[in-house]
Amino acid sequence: MTLRQRVYAVLDSERLSPAARRLRAAEIIAILAGLTSVAAGTIDGLATGARALAAGATGVVATLFLVEYLIRLWVAPEAPHHSDVSDTRARLRWARSGEGIVDLLAVIPVIAVASGGPSSAPDSASMFVLLWVLKLAAHAPGVELIIRVVYNERRALGAVLVLFIIALLSAATLLHLAEEAGQPDEYGSIPASLWWAIVTLTTTGYGDVVPKTVFGRTVAGGVMVCGVAVLALLAGILATGFAEEVKRREFVRIWELVARVPFFAEVGAVAISDIVGRLRSRNYPSGAMILRRGTPGDAMYFIVSGEVEVRVGAQPVYLRDGAFFGEMALLDRRPRSADVVAVSACTLLILNVAEFYQIAGQQPALVQAIEAEAKRRHADNRTRSAPPVVDD
Ligand code: CMP
Repeated sequence: MTLRQRVYAVLDSERLSPAARRLRAAEIIAILAGLTSVAAGTIDGLATGARALAAGATGVVATLFLVEYLIRLWVAPEAPHHSDVSDTRARLRWARSGEGIVDLLAVIPVIAVASGGPSSAPDSASMFVLLWVLKLAAHAPGVELIIRVVYNERRALGAVLVLFIIALLSAATLLHLAEEAGQPDEYGSIPASLWWAIVTLTTTGYGDVVPKTVFGRTVAGGVMVCGVAVLALLAGILATGFAEEVKRREFVRIWELVARVPFFAEVGAVAISDIVGRLRSRNYPSGAMILRRGTPGDAMYFIVSGEVEVRVGAQPVYLRDGAFFGEMALLDRRPRSADVVAVSACTLLILNVAEFYQIAGQQPALVQAIEAEAKRRHADNRTRSAPPVVDD
């Protein structure tokens, strides 16, 4: 692996490696530190020392972003979707992409800092906040999820928006008719009444403009109720959209992990899709105690990556990628027969006991394969003369 490939692997936002995660977290911390220093620099009564500190921090963060931009430009040819073009063209493509433009905008403060620093021009410094907020939005986890949810729910959200516009225009027109005579400045035209309508419909209610006639107040009551209903609808649509999108992503993630466990390769696609929805994944650090001998069996585990040590008898057994454990307690309905400890960092898929029995009913072949292995392990343990586990 070349140095450029290694750097790309860490910078690639799609990767979930610990180094990539750490870098992303550091990047977000740097953006937040930059935003704080710029915001602090705009406070009028700040002491000279604190102002200089804020300006210095802004400069450091801006320089870090410049270095990051140059590195991202350098590694751009490593992106899989740039494999068919020359290095220069790949870099140009990246520079013109949304991510490239946002990162370039974030570098603009470097020029400002170099030519006098934000301490000398606090107003221009506040512009950095907008540029760095943009960078935060582009790199923060979850922002992409929100955009996806809004896109997925665009039809339902569009329908609510139409409802909102209808309510807004009706409210403004009715209030204009009711209040025009008494309050010509506030309700003299429909556009002027729109301010009251939007403040009321969004349930903000500044109270700067209020209806005085009985009819106006009656309409206002209806508009307030409509406002609550529209907001409730919006919240419901977004919450459902979020739950569905998160579930979909989790399904795809687990599906990819399941594909790495050879045991599941023999099961058909339909059966796998049935199992995937019932599994959850968990990472264990090296040395973690995963199962303790004598405790009740509540789940079984499939190893996606890593190695575990099963402490049976004098000679432990080591299980690696693709193997499973924790099945004996579920099949025998007895406590755990051994301690199981992670000897390296592990990613495991976990199938809880209730789901295990449901699958046993629907996928007998799968459970038979697990039973056959459990039988072999029982025989193996007898030869190891492991001390028996006593039921409570
Ligand atoms: P369980 O008894 O639920 O918890 C401990 C697990 O260790 C057990 O299920 C098996 O999955 C695993 N195990 C026990 N004995 C052996 C063995 N001889 N070889 C491999 N795995 C074992």
